[in-house]
Amino acid sequence: MATKILILNGPNLNMLGKREPGIYGSETLQDIEDQARTRASSHDLDIDFRQSNHEGELVTWIQEAVEDTAGLIFNAAAYTHTSVALHDAVRASGLPMIEVHLSNVYQREQFRHKSYLSAIAKGVICGFGVDSYLLAIDAMSRILKSES
Ligand code: DQA
Repeated sequence: MATKILILNGPNLNMLGKREPGIYGSETLQDIEDQARTRASSHDLDIDFRQSNHEGELVTWIQEAVEDTAGLIFNAAAYTHTSVALHDAVRASGLPMIEVHLSNVYQREQFRHKSYLSAIAKGVICGFGVDSYLLAIDAMSRILKSES
């Protein structure tokens, strides 16, 4: 059975395609999922790809992932900059986590320069649009191979 990774997306990412395309591009979240699936299968990884606008739901999914998931790729969107609860959930899960962002948050407002996730991430990939996710899948594949 292929190893499973969870790709989690936080608030407003369901609006991709319509939402500030100058910043986030014209691809939808479904487009990202399709490309992520293709890339993951090239590494013999299965993905569970989810989005929620609710912080608590993201926490619950991280808690549940521990059962059958090897790693987490996480675009927590605005919660990146605010959420101690998501920091705690990822930390408690013990799962290797890669933080991703479509945009380069360091070229944007000061409030986006703070992340509650970076310190507990294996690494952070931002600014490459959809490729941020694809690069994270490549990196997660290497991490999981080196751990096995
Ligand atoms: C984002 C960057 C966040 O600052 C923002 O709140 C988002 C998306 C990104 O993917 O670039 O919603 O995580």
